Amino acid sequence: MTSTQQTAPSTETLAGAVVHVGSEAAREWWRDAVIYQVYPRSFADGDGDGIGDIPGVTARLDHLARLGVDAVWLSPFYRSPQKDAGYDVADYRDVDPLFGTLADVDEMLAAAHERGIRVVVDLVPNHTSDQHAWFQVALAAAAGSPERARYVFRDGRGPAGDEAPNNWQSIFGGPAWTRLAPREDDGPLGPQWYLHLFDSSQPDLDWTHPEVRAEFEDVLRFWLDKGVDGFRVDVAHGLVKADGLPDWEGSVAMVDGTTDDEAVDPGAPEDGSTGAGRHGPMFDQDGVHEIYRAWHRVLAEYDGDRCLVAEAWVEPLSRLARYVRPGEMHQAFNFSFLTTGWDAAALRSVIAASYRANDEVGAPTTWVLSNHDVVRHTSRLGLTDAGGRPNGIFATDPQPDEELGLRRARAASLLMLGLPGSAYVYQGEELGLPEHTALPADLRQDPAFFRTLGAEAGRDGCRVPIPWSADAAGFGFGPTGKTWLPQPESFARYAADLQYGVAGSTFEMYRAALAARRAEGLGHGGLAWLDAHAGSPDVIAFRNRDVVVLANLGTEPVTLPSGVEVLVASGPVADEVPSDTTVWLRA
Ligand code: NOJ
Repeated sequence: MTSTQQTAPSTETLAGAVVHVGSEAAREWWRDAVIYQVYPRSFADGDGDGIGDIPGVTARLDHLARLGVDAVWLSPFYRSPQKDAGYDVADYRDVDPLFGTLADVDEMLAAAHERGIRVVVDLVPNHTSDQHAWFQVALAAAAGSPERARYVFRDGRGPAGDEAPNNWQSIFGGPAWTRLAPREDDGPLGPQWYLHLFDSSQPDLDWTHPEVRAEFEDVLRFWLDKGVDGFRVDVAHGLVKADGLPDWEGSVAMVDGTTDDEAVDPGAPEDGSTGAGRHGPMFDQDGVHEIYRAWHRVLAEYDGDRCLVAEAWVEPLSRLARYVRPGEMHQAFNFSFLTTGWDAAALRSVIAASYRANDEVGAPTTWVLSNHDVVRHTSRLGLTDAGGRPNGIFATDPQPDEELGLRRARAASLLMLGLPGSAYVYQGEELGLPEHTALPADLRQDPAFFRTLGAEAGRDGCRVPIPWSADAAGFGFGPTGKTWLPQPESFARYAADLQYGVAGSTFEMYRAALAARRAEGLGHGGLAWLDAHAGSPDVIAFRNRDVVVLANLGTEPVTLPSGVEVLVASGPVADEVPSDTTVWLRA
């Protein structure tokens, strides 16, 4: 434990097991920051082409200032053929014309900083686009050439080399290898194959190559020089592969982490494992940490506590904590929390396990419930199986209960924001937006939908353009009313302009929570369970500094002690906290 001991005051009735001790010491901003994820193509459209862009972000920064977030993370806006919505980067130092220009980014950065909002950008180091200059020269060069050495090219197996080099599957479905077209100088094994853990348009880089390492350090400096405050690192657990690329019988599919050797009991995961961790020789290899130690040193040359946040689907939590050891990255998304269902015992267990693991290395825990890769938590929690984790939802699937889902999602968010540590909020969750579950197949764009041959809906349903104004065309997404994916009619009632200043709206709940969280210092507070959780196994109750957070996941209401002050509530509360409701109390 590196933090300064500062136990929250406790009374006789409220004393409970201390799980995490807060700190009053000076701290870096990212330790308790609330960071808002902008998915640029769906946030706000400045030029009217139906696709969100950087000027759109700049124009809507006041929404974020009003909400009260500390920082914004932008998904990729770099030059890209957009085969995976920008996670296929062709030029890491340029902005895709779809999203604007480098000057637009400079302007957005300055405007965000003026409002006291820090800016984290996305870095995609596991793979490039097949349109990247390096891959293009690799294709033109011969097998065994230095140009090919920056990627993972291999000869095939079998006498004619026509079997893939190993049995790995792509995370988006189908094989993880693609064979090149024949060329005259092919040897007896014919054309080579290249590895792509994702789409065939996203070839994996070979991180044993010094040029790859040097290039990304230079890319970091390019954006640090521009003034960004940090990087969200895509597939941070995937850069280094096991020597010899051995066959592996497990599954890397996007949502079924429990099908491999690590099936877990979601009821009481001692180590926090929920099936969010992806295993195998392509993930979480020890060699990856050296890369982040080098990046840490690069960031440390700059002022202002710049940070690295790992997108690493790694379990158990003690393995994930290795990414945030001193001298490595600063945050790692807690996907074990995200993938825990609506179950008080399982949530208590994963919360405690998260602090146990991260306190060991002196790192904050980084909470998250939604992002651009998962079904929005408003809809996940409205499914009959509220622990279910489909990769998208089709119109023909059982549909989430929208009202129940929203009630639980608000309760889940208020629970999350009451926890010490940092928290990420995905655009639209502050409006209570549901997943779009009725997108027609011909409009879907996610490569996961195509590579599973339509078996999985994929992630388009959580990427639908944001409704800003209930009465405008395209709900005010842009000046022309065009939207790259259609918005469901129901978005009208979630529009931002219907929620501003309206007591009880989801936006005002988030705003009140963020303000109280800041005023009460909850982000750097401690956590002590309240004994017996108000007498119900379906209640989560803890003290964080002077605030008691109580989430009632059960079916029966919980009576509040008389005289307590309710600071924030996720739903109507009188003397009782109803089912699927969270309250923050001063006690
Ligand atoms: C994780 C990103 O969040 C996801 O959107 C992307 O498809 C994959 N990494 C591949 O870059």
